[in-house]
Amino acid sequence: MADQCTRGSADIPDSIPTLRWEEPPEGPVLVLLDQTRLPGEESELACTDAPALVEAIRTLAVRGAPLLGIAGAYGVALAAARGFDVVDAARMLAGARPTAVNLARGVRRAQEAHAAAAAAGGDERAAAAAALAAARALHREDAEGSRSMAREGLALLDELVPGGQHRLLTHCNTGALVSGGEGTAFAVALAAHREGKLRRLWVDETRPLLQGARLTAYEAARHGMPYTLLTDSAAGSLFAAGEVDAVLIGADRIAADGSVANKVGSYPLAVLARYHHVPFIVVAPVTTIDMDTPDGAAIEVEQRSGHEVTEAISPSGRGVGGEAGGGVPIAPLGTQAYNPAFDVTPPELVTAVVTEWGVVSPVTEGALEQLCARSRQV
Ligand code: MRU
Repeated sequence: MADQCTRGSADIPDSIPTLRWEEPPEGPVLVLLDQTRLPGEESELACTDAPALVEAIRTLAVRGAPLLGIAGAYGVALAAARGFDVVDAARMLAGARPTAVNLARGVRRAQEAHAAAAAAGGDERAAAAAALAAARALHREDAEGSRSMAREGLALLDELVPGGQHRLLTHCNTGALVSGGEGTAFAVALAAHREGKLRRLWVDETRPLLQGARLTAYEAARHGMPYTLLTDSAAGSLFAAGEVDAVLIGADRIAADGSVANKVGSYPLAVLARYHHVPFIVVAPVTTIDMDTPDGAAIEVEQRSGHEVTEAISPSGRGVGGEAGGGVPIAPLGTQAYNPAFDVTPPELVTAVVTEWGVVSPVTEGALEQLCARSRQV
């Protein structure tokens, strides 16, 4: 399979189309907003095969757990529609990044739809159409789920933090850029803003790839939210000053025992939140809960290139996701770096998990199991 990804300029409406399926005469294309270029440049990548999409996933052009699931499903549809080996494409897509369970799940959903259509006697076209329908359904459900999470999350905030003028701290990026809708944790903050209940959104810059500074600040600014950017290490003094009413984060995988894998730097925030008696709230769709992963120790944490730590990314996105570097050196040549992309917060530090199917608090295996069972009944 040839690596087929081309770059073009984007005309971005208010809703930020992070990803869309197009069918020009030359054949289907998955068009991605290239998140490595934000906020300086809004440009798009057009992927015409699975290897190109795998590269876009690894370099974080497309990222964030729910969107990875959606992209993975469309990737299978793309391979099927273009006559590539679907099993091969699904294997490489599912393995592109290990921690966000949504990716493998989205891939599997489209692959199963494809296989079921073929088993029912459908030809290649029918099987490809089934894979595309599965990807579209996941995309739609994610948008709907996002609305429900925003509602559930805001109701919880109002209950936990009476007074209605919330000062929320968030980490990484959890808005429309990671979702078919308006996101997870960010969608809750946005709902608060729309109801006049957001006093301040504190945005961690999120070293080393700056998803907070580059992406969350970009989304918050577009919505006119009152937000302030801080270095990750400034969070402690903010808690100490009594300036945080709640922490709101997303998740890449929630294990059966309630351990939460999310962007590295989330766990220290949970420890700070506990010490300062501040609620630590995780917002994620049920597709992020993985009852097959027993506990936090069983979650595979992606280790990324040390270049991301020893080099600062440039405004044009150079250095984001770069295996071979490409950013501006900030450490002596040859410096070794520790660069886990995620960390794991134990359930006892998590006040609540908010999903589109309701809120789990306290976070226990039994409560998560019940919630998942409820979501499967429909
Ligand atoms: O490495 P990234 O940018 O894909 O990491 C994203 C995060 O950690 C998000 O917080 C997580 O996926 C939740 S998004 C709703």
